[in-house]
Amino acid sequence: MQMAQIGPGVAGGNNRQTLTDADADGRALFREWCEAAGCTVGVDGIGTMFARREGTEPDAAPVYVGSHLDTQPTGGRFDGVLGVLGGLELVRTLNNAGIRTRRPVVVTNWTNEEGTRFAPAMLGSGVFIGEHELEWAYDRTDANGRRFGDELGRIGWKGEEEVGGRPIHAYFELHIEQGPVLEAEGTDVGVVTHGQGLWWLEVRLTGRDAHTGSTPMQMRRDASLGMARVIESAHRIAMDHQPEAVGAVGHADLHPNSRNVVAGRAVFTIDFRTPDLGKLTSMRERLEAEAREIASGLGLEIEIEPTGHYDPVTFDTGCVGAVREAARRLGYSHRDIVSGAGHDACWINRIAPTAMIFCPCKDGISHNEAEEIMPDWAAKGTNVLLHAVLETAGIAS
Ligand code: GLV
Ligand code: MN
Ligand code: MN
Repeated sequence: MQMAQIGPGVAGGNNRQTLTDADADGRALFREWCEAAGCTVGVDGIGTMFARREGTEPDAAPVYVGSHLDTQPTGGRFDGVLGVLGGLELVRTLNNAGIRTRRPVVVTNWTNEEGTRFAPAMLGSGVFIGEHELEWAYDRTDANGRRFGDELGRIGWKGEEEVGGRPIHAYFELHIEQGPVLEAEGTDVGVVTHGQGLWWLEVRLTGRDAHTGSTPMQMRRDASLGMARVIESAHRIAMDHQPEAVGAVGHADLHPNSRNVVAGRAVFTIDFRTPDLGKLTSMRERLEAEAREIASGLGLEIEIEPTGHYDPVTFDTGCVGAVREAARRLGYSHRDIVSGAGHDACWINRIAPTAMIFCPCKDGISHNEAEEIMPDWAAKGTNVLLHAVLETAGIAS
């Protein structure tokens, strides 16, 4: 709740978008808490923060936990934050109980998980695993043309450390489900076995600005009409790939966005997701073909730029087993579940054994300021995180 006071939203949630002043303040608070808990905090060249609690075998590869402190523009208080502060709670609990682990434990705050202000999502972890170049990340721009690298420097969180130079023994990410399944079933813990794959596309349609009153209908090149038809097509494509496929247009800009001008330009995003790689490819291909046909039928120019992608993810059997076993030992009800959202864990799984733990969230609502969880749900998820980490890091005798 203290973190949620930084970058408050307009309806009780948060607007702590990446590389804003609020992001900087949230980072500073997290660092203060970690240092007070005896951790040393490293920051890499993309701003990702690593709070390390030493193990009795300092040279052993650490067990990593964490998530992200950045939020959507109308985000909740728990998406990402639970996994970062759950990691800090784990450290404090080990301190209070006087437990030393053999391997060090590192709590991570990955930079720009959300991808709202700067696409793509999971940018810090994507550079960390070598999926993106650091310079390419620095060159991403926001809607106002500000560069990622400049903003990172401006808020004072461009660290010295090389990005990706850290060996990881295993990574565990605690997160809210962001869907309705666990709460509806009354299940305490989700054991995340897979993550959906994703394609993000940015579509840019160019027609001609024209007077809405005096331009005959058949002489218009109306980018807003093109956009409406492509949105309809994206929805239909996702419906035609059921079950387990989703598609949405979440961001749209019309230019000049004036009621008495036929829009000469439309820029909007498409987000397709499914756990099935074949469906993912097919949805993208069909959208591109249909959008080009729509544009040509309306006399519009079209550009389609892929702005984010990852294949469906299968998490590590050993780490997933450690989560399931921890839930069982603690006597919590649990079930296997697939993640609908993207997470830094999806990238880290490429380079180190990884698993995720879900806790329920109220009515499945997320990416919404109304996002809510119960303290008991958070406690159980965090307890599973603690026990899975203890088993993987080893307790020093
Ligand atoms: C990240 O929150 C995503 O799933 O888009
Ligand atoms: Mn998240
Ligand atoms: Mn999110």
